[in-house]
Amino acid sequence: MGSISVRAVSKRFETGDVDVTALEAVDLQVRDQEFVTLVGASGCGKSTLLNLVAGFETPSSGEVLVDGAPVRGPGPDRGVVFQQTALFPWLTVEENIAFGLSLRANRGKGEVKPIVERLLERTGLAAFRTRRPAELSGGMRQRAAIASVLAIDPSTLLMDEPFGALDALTRSIMQDFLLELWEARRKTVVLVTHDIDEAIYLADRTIIMTAHPGRICEAIEVDLPRPRRYEMRSSAAFIRLRDHVTQIVRAEALKGTAPLGAPASPALVPSMTQSAQN
Ligand SMILES: Nc1ncnc2c1ncn2[C@@H]1O[C@H](COP(=O)(O)OP(=O)(O)OP(=O)(O)O)[C@@H](O)[C@H]1O
Ligand SMILES: [Mg+2]
Repeated sequence: MGSISVRAVSKRFETGDVDVTALEAVDLQVRDQEFVTLVGASGCGKSTLLNLVAGFETPSSGEVLVDGAPVRGPGPDRGVVFQQTALFPWLTVEENIAFGLSLRANRGKGEVKPIVERLLERTGLAAFRTRRPAELSGGMRQRAAIASVLAIDPSTLLMDEPFGALDALTRSIMQDFLLELWEARRKTVVLVTHDIDEAIYLADRTIIMTAHPGRICEAIEVDLPRPRRYEMRSSAAFIRLRDHVTQIVRAEALKGTAPLGAPASPALVPSMTQSAQN
């Protein structure tokens, strides 16, 4: 279970002198166990949309439903992974993975251990179980963060540029790792990325958002076979999809940019200055 329904959602931030409309009339349905990626220009509202589904923000109008019930706040049914991982620096890898799990009711120590063991194996971190986050590479930290979210077995994974801080090679390894996890134990995934290759490689459907305010611009069905393989990225079908998505994203991003020498559109100034803080 993990269907998401975003209905006529708008989100306005009141920030003193200027109000920012981050999202306007967004409608989005995500099926149970569907893998959806979200792309769009910086500041178009991708994180805001994810935060609304996660329950960290509330819509200004419209509603967000998960499995048919309105989202009232964060919950263990939705695991969230950010670009910068939220691990406890003073805990070891295995303690970090076990932490959320042992907080949940009805989980005795005997129950926690096998789950943690399985995740340490799955994420290739078994040999690093006693290390602390500062002693890990970026990719290992991100794997530990994903493992600690998977430990509570959420039906939905919400991922905001989860591999954005990694080098290209580690990133592509992490993409395959995520796909492998998802193939083995399907969950509903909404993953935000700036990397169009990544968006297509992972997704059943890639959603493109308009620049400002954020609306759903287009949803592209990614009809590439599964399981996905790295080599598919050089296939004609992949390249066609990538070019198509790139063209739409670029056109959307350029709508928000003034030609060189021309004054920037006043509507754009607050959004650009504020999105730089994200
Ligand atoms: N807490 C907040 N208070 C005020 N404005 C906000 C807040 N969060 C987001 N915004 C504004 O809402 C708009 C959308 O921001 P959001 O972070 O969702 O964009 P994004 O698509 O995730 O951008 P990026 O790709 O750069 O991460 C921006 O104009 C941003 O400045
Ligand atoms: Mg963002």
